[in-house]
Amino acid sequence: MFHFWWLLGALHLVLWGSTITHATLPPPPVQCNDTGCTLFNSYGVWNDRKDCHVPTITYPTNEEELRLAVAHANQNNLKVKVVSRFSHTIPKLACPDSQYGNSMLISTLKYNSSIEIDEANLAVTADAGVGLRELIDEVERAGFSLVPAPYWEGVSVGGLISTGAHGSSWWGKGGAVHDHVIGLSLVVPAKESEGYAKIIRIGAKDPLLNAAKVSLGMLGVISKVKLSLEPAFKRSITYNSTDDTHIEDIFMDHGKKYEFADVTWYPSRHTAVYRYDDRVPLSASGDGEYDFLGFQANSIVVSKSTRSSEKLLEKARNVKGKCALATTFVGFKKLVANGLKNGLIFTGYPVVGHQGKMQTSGSCLYSTRIDTSCAWDPRISGLFFYETTAIFPASKFGDFLRDVKKLRDLKADNFCGADIYNGFLIRYIKASPAYLGQSEESIVLDFNYYRADDSSTPRLNQDVWEEVEQMAFFKYGAKPHWAKNRNLAFFDVQHKYPNFNKFVATKKQLDPKNMFSGEWSNEILFGTQAVKADGCALEGQCTCSEDRHCSPKNGYFCKEGLVYKEARVCRHS
Ligand SMILES: Cc1cc2nc3c(=O)[nH]c(=O)nc-3n(C[C@H](O)[C@H](O)[C@H](O)COP(=O)(O)OP(=O)(O)OC[C@H]3O[C@@H](n4cnc5c(N)ncnc54)[C@H](O)[C@@H]3O)c2cc1C
Ligand SMILES: *[C@@H]1O[C@H](CO)[C@@H](O)[C@H](O)[C@H]1NC(C)=O
Ligand SMILES: *[C@@H]1O[C@H](CO)[C@@H](O)[C@H](O)[C@H]1NC(C)=O
Ligand SMILES: *[C@@H]1O[C@H](CO)[C@@H](O)[C@H](O)[C@H]1NC(C)=O
Repeated sequence: MFHFWWLLGALHLVLWGSTITHATLPPPPVQCNDTGCTLFNSYGVWNDRKDCHVPTITYPTNEEELRLAVAHANQNNLKVKVVSRFSHTIPKLACPDSQYGNSMLISTLKYNSSIEIDEANLAVTADAGVGLRELIDEVERAGFSLVPAPYWEGVSVGGLISTGAHGSSWWGKGGAVHDHVIGLSLVVPAKESEGYAKIIRIGAKDPLLNAAKVSLGMLGVISKVKLSLEPAFKRSITYNSTDDTHIEDIFMDHGKKYEFADVTWYPSRHTAVYRYDDRVPLSASGDGEYDFLGFQANSIVVSKSTRSSEKLLEKARNVKGKCALATTFVGFKKLVANGLKNGLIFTGYPVVGHQGKMQTSGSCLYSTRIDTSCAWDPRISGLFFYETTAIFPASKFGDFLRDVKKLRDLKADNFCGADIYNGFLIRYIKASPAYLGQSEESIVLDFNYYRADDSSTPRLNQDVWEEVEQMAFFKYGAKPHWAKNRNLAFFDVQHKYPNFNKFVATKKQLDPKNMFSGEWSNEILFGTQAVKADGCALEGQCTCSEDRHCSPKNGYFCKEGLVYKEARVCRHS
């Protein structure tokens, strides 16, 4: 993610003073008072900038309490959603419904005690509320490794599979965690005679598993997840920072050649960083870790001043200023290997370390200083950004890259706004039998970019991000990551999944009353487009078709794309 404050951090070190021992942990995602509760995502703001109010929340601690919670909701005709202790999903999937009165939340915060390792069968079964870090550490302690995991560890076992979370790999069963799920328990509504709710145990060969493993919380409550393991191993990582010539030809072989390959592309800097990343035996020497720079704790002062400088550059329409930052940060990341550490610091390639420390990180979650936090902590007016994540059929990704290069070559500086963050992160996932997973070998592309404090303020070069976004989702048929993205990415999504109807049929069977559906999750799953309001294209709530969907008063009008002519974007003129 975004790293420029990090550099400033060095300058600010001197300000930090002596040790302060209270932790600035991320805020709890649910806040309640006498009149009810409000659910937030980790950025504190949903895509539509409207709060999610829910009258009640319950915190089951074991499977029977989980079952009773679903029974209660069923008996009382309540809409229900589950949320983890993290709520790190950006779209409003975990918000039960806009109709405040008849809904409830089930939190898995306190449903996280059991992690059982089955050594003989190389498997682990965990309660849905267990954190990814706790799971990984327990598995490694027992001499095993979990092969896939998202790069970010601030997620629960139930939440991460529900949205199709992934790392990066084209080897074995691939980089998506749900493709390593070999069993799952689900609490679903039931008849009165069955006590209004029941637990179903879904085995590896049960076709229900294809619906249940990526289910957006819409089938029922996941109680337990069983994942396959491998004997513990280490990884060896080297970054090759080079120019981006032929990236569109290289990416395919790169993914085949290295088990945990990825590529970070900085289009404005004409730079590609290839990650050479393979497993090595446990006996290989090295006890390194990957403490990804964007997920490290930052001085709050620095996060705030970074945000204010970004705001100033936006206001002044200062593209060059953004590019200067991009140059500095890309250079700095290279210097510190983006958070790879041989020991306490980075001293040189390759960095070798245990799988449990090399795949996933999030040290800002455990910040023990009151003056540091995750950079996007909503309480500090720190970084605030959008996240676009498009999943392409691998066969189309090369052409997409060629198109983006054409757009970039018109004016490379227009891409600096993403290179200040993490550039374009390219990852690999394999074909999956999950109905809401990828039906073919795929490439996942992530990029982040500035989001304004209020919804009516247009952004510098927003036409460029909109054109890339529309190219991805409309021209190349990319599918949106369920846990990220602005609303337009979900338009028409149901027609992109060949097994979509099978998912809907399973939902009818398991949740006939649609208890686990609500306005927000339906908007995402069915990709419905709301009535186009003034300014709706600014925040990706629509694509513009008239100037009023942009911001005429700020000089932003609805125009066609520069390379992808069918795109409709808000451009300053
Ligand atoms: C900084 C950051 C970095 C990220 N990096 C990555 C990455 O590298 N790769 C990647 O793929 N994703 C990444 N993500 C996205 C993240 O993996 C997903 O948002 C993940 O789903 C979050 O898990 P959670 O436990 O917070 O789930 P929540 O946000 O609490 O819930 C997610 C969904 O699952 C449902 N749900 C949760 N628990 C249950 C349950 N027990 N039963 C049924 N439904 C349930 C919820 O209703 C909701 O629909 C990142 C997100 C952030 C904020
Ligand atoms: C109490 O919660 C409600 C609903 O979540 C919210 O609208 C209201 O602002 C809160 N009031 C206070 C005093 O926090
Ligand atoms: C369970 O959740 C608590 C916080 O609510 C956390 O401190 C603990 O580490 C979690 N345990 C597991 C195994 O996830
Ligand atoms: C870095 O990557 C480029 C492009 O793939 C390649 O030509 C070059 O040989 C690589 N350098 C090293 C040191 O591996």
